[in-house]
Amino acid sequence: MGYHNEYQASIDDPAAFWQEKSSLIQWYKKPSKTLSRDENGHYLWYADGELNSSYLALDYHVENGRGEQTALIYDSPVTNTYRQFTYRELTDKVARFAGALQSLGVCRGERVIIYMPMIPEATIAMLACARLGAIHSVVFGGFAAHELALRINDAQPKVILSASCGIEVEKIIPYKTLLDDAVAQAEHQVDACVVFQRQQLEAELIPGRDYDWQFLESQSEPVAPVPVAATDPLYILYTSGTTGTPKGVIRDNGGHAVAMRYSMANVYGMNAGDVFWAASDVGWVVGHSYIVYGPLMAGCTTVLYEGKPVKTPDAGAFWRVCQQYQVNAIFSAPTAFRAICKEDPDARYFRQYDLSQLKRIFLAGERLDPATYHWLKRHTGLPVIDHWWQTETGWAIAGNPVGIEELPTKAGSATCPVPGFNVQILDNSGRQQAANEQGSVAIKLPMPPGCLQGIWKNPERFKAGYLATYEGYYLSGDGGYLDDDGYLYIMGRTDDVINVAGHRLSTGEMEEIVSAHQDVAECAVVGVADELKGQVPMALIVLKNGVTTPTEQIFEQIRQEVRQQIGALACLKKIHQVERLPKTRSGKILRRLIRQMADGEEYQVPSTIDDVEIIGEISNVLKLVASF
Ligand code: COA
Ligand code: AMP
Repeated sequence: MGYHNEYQASIDDPAAFWQEKSSLIQWYKKPSKTLSRDENGHYLWYADGELNSSYLALDYHVENGRGEQTALIYDSPVTNTYRQFTYRELTDKVARFAGALQSLGVCRGERVIIYMPMIPEATIAMLACARLGAIHSVVFGGFAAHELALRINDAQPKVILSASCGIEVEKIIPYKTLLDDAVAQAEHQVDACVVFQRQQLEAELIPGRDYDWQFLESQSEPVAPVPVAATDPLYILYTSGTTGTPKGVIRDNGGHAVAMRYSMANVYGMNAGDVFWAASDVGWVVGHSYIVYGPLMAGCTTVLYEGKPVKTPDAGAFWRVCQQYQVNAIFSAPTAFRAICKEDPDARYFRQYDLSQLKRIFLAGERLDPATYHWLKRHTGLPVIDHWWQTETGWAIAGNPVGIEELPTKAGSATCPVPGFNVQILDNSGRQQAANEQGSVAIKLPMPPGCLQGIWKNPERFKAGYLATYEGYYLSGDGGYLDDDGYLYIMGRTDDVINVAGHRLSTGEMEEIVSAHQDVAECAVVGVADELKGQVPMALIVLKNGVTTPTEQIFEQIRQEVRQQIGALACLKKIHQVERLPKTRSGKILRRLIRQMADGEEYQVPSTIDDVEIIGEISNVLKLVASF
């Protein structure tokens, strides 16, 4: 069946389509219902099915003759460590660590926070939670203690799993110190912290609360997978919204497992035995879906890379990994390739390696700019495939479904909606836009299996943020259009979310921190274009009258505060002082206008603006800054 037929079948009768696909996985109890609704009217997939995600990723393959195949490759240029685990070895490790968690009282439905660097134990921890039916919540290691504390309060974990340190190129990041700080800041008290000691920096353990990972593991007995309901949460993954409080996206077990199997085969064209490398971090959704669950459930070999695209040690790092492990498909963020291109514009490193096994390059996480697309295509000669998705969906909404039919790609487009996603472009009043007309990208309900089940402990936010704008649709938060051939172009967020080096951040959260500075009267933070990172935050601030502190000192305090509270990845470097901010007559700051002015785009001054003269003032400040 070609793409169009498969897509149409999924839209015409979603229940029949996904009922057939449910046989992609091994259930303990096959679902008799494919699509149903809960008491609030939200769609549920496979409601009465039973399964275990850790079993599907591990034991299933051992039982089916893949026990000796490599499941996980750990490649860490920053520590010079290279290890491989077969499916049998990984199953044993996960089963034993699940035993360790069980001994701390972790059981089905209990939450466990994982705050770890890119080491195999992070994967082992996730799968061990899944084995027990516990709900993991991985927090990206680049987040500061305050962010971790927010997540501890929201998820209320019984246990936190961490490591003594992370390594950023040559810098050692003391994770344990950040963890202690976060636990001290959080109102919710955890029962235990389990710390993996790394030789680069051993951490001091707090007696009675902290456990040594290696010791605890050595004392534990392996446990078998616990059957869970398809609708039981597998994990909570926090993502940035428009406010300072992150949203805990809930992913179920059953729909997710089917989506992972379906997407590995159809979106990425991967079969059991293939080597798949998602060069991302387990702290992001890409890491959840395509470092851990997707490739392992599909019986592939997955690569866990603790390094950067450049500087570890050079811009050939990605190609070295691809050659060394005979990687068949690589997936990363455009920013990673922009960093490579900057250091190796003629792609000399690419030609130094034998990459005959590499079939395709997949990109997502931010817009794939045409320059990077063309650079990659020209120098690698490989299909370069952009695909668009979000933490909320867990897998690609639009892409080139190479496992069904490889469609021609177009620069700037994420190709076509993936089967299951009824993508529509709507105007403000909810009417469908004609081809080539921009609007809000919405997905008609029901979304396919694997997408968010809700926001942890916040059904109101789920409804208000995603479902209330257009009745019967999911609001993606992105703007874009479909062309005459049905190709989707994503043009950027329509809310206050920005994307810095593939990392999703909230400008609203940054504004809260900036405004809290004693000398700031008000501020606006927007995402402005950046050659390497795609976007970076920029703050315009209005200082209070009578402030005598030198502005550069205030700016530096603000930079440090953002770094301290959110983390280094927020990198609010651009701060400018203005006399006033452009606002509507009702007092709403015109952030879009500021962004357009900063990016040198054409803009229209809204008729609702409070004072039109302010445009000239802001424009002068931005021009002055740009001329430096
Ligand atoms: N733990 C601790 N700190 C981290 C971190 C982590 N896991 N990840 C990033 N940081 C820190 C960095 O050390 C840096 O700190 P610094 O300001 O003290 O130097 C800061 O956060 C910003 O990091 P980053 O945004 O990664 O910028 P960079 O200049 O170090 O590297 C790239 C630029 C393009 C090489 C890098 O951003 C990259 O590899 N991006 C790909 C992103 C990606 O894979 N995203 C996943 C979506 S698919
Ligand atoms: P995250 O939830 O961190 O994966 O970020 C999701 C957001 O990143 C989306 O809503 C988009 O704004 C952006 N994004 C992800 N992939 C793409 C893509 N291929 N093209 C354009 N934007 C993308």
